[in-house]
Amino acid sequence: MTANDVIRAWDQADPAAIHPLRQVSEKAYWESGEAQAATLATVIPDGAKVLDFGCGDGRVAIPMAVLGYEVTAVDSSQKMLDRLTENVPDITTVQADADGIAGHLGRRRMDAVYSLAVLIHHSYQDCLHIIGKLRAATKLGGILVLDWPASDTPAEADSWIGVTTWSSEQQADACAAIGLEPVDSDLPWGVYRAVKVGG
Ligand SMILES: C[S@@+](CC[C@H](N)C(=O)[O-])C[C@H]1O[C@@H](n2cnc3c(N)ncnc32)[C@H](O)[C@@H]1O
Repeated sequence: MTANDVIRAWDQADPAAIHPLRQVSEKAYWESGEAQAATLATVIPDGAKVLDFGCGDGRVAIPMAVLGYEVTAVDSSQKMLDRLTENVPDITTVQADADGIAGHLGRRRMDAVYSLAVLIHHSYQDCLHIIGKLRAATKLGGILVLDWPASDTPAEADSWIGVTTWSSEQQADACAAIGLEPVDSDLPWGVYRAVKVGG
């Protein structure tokens, strides 16, 4: 699967595919986003400028805005972003893949970037490319929260809905090359601080 295959598949996907709880109920779906936003808030400073990469229809971006974060919601799918703004019109949305972020931000950098249920669907190569762009969008010392799972039996996803897992060694090498310092946390995702490469 190339990144473009994944992007195309998500653009055409039923919104129910975003999260298993959507098949339970809309209430359960949105409550899961509120709970995850509260979890993110334990590591992202109050009022921070945050970028939600692959925001979907705003399951987490909307509650992050409610918590007082200045949210930029980025997704490659305009359909997803339209669903988000139908719900909450005043969140900043950007239709872009990882390569399009820099063009939107210009010289600005975010205090924090998070990406949930996005990297997991990409190949090793595309995931590394995306994480590099997310790091570039984050100010030095800023926080990245990445749903980037490790496994003792790492494997690449073989479909747009599959899950790519990484070995700890692969992740450590990637962090060193990209400029990410792992931060200890109880979060179910990786938490990193943006550092200089080799610093
Ligand atoms: C499973 S949904 C997750 C949505 C949201 N993060 C959440 O947790 O509810 C994946 C989203 O990521 C977007 N996406 C996938 N790959 C992308 C990429 N390379 N660049 C930008 N968006 C991407 C898809 O369009 C889709 O909206």
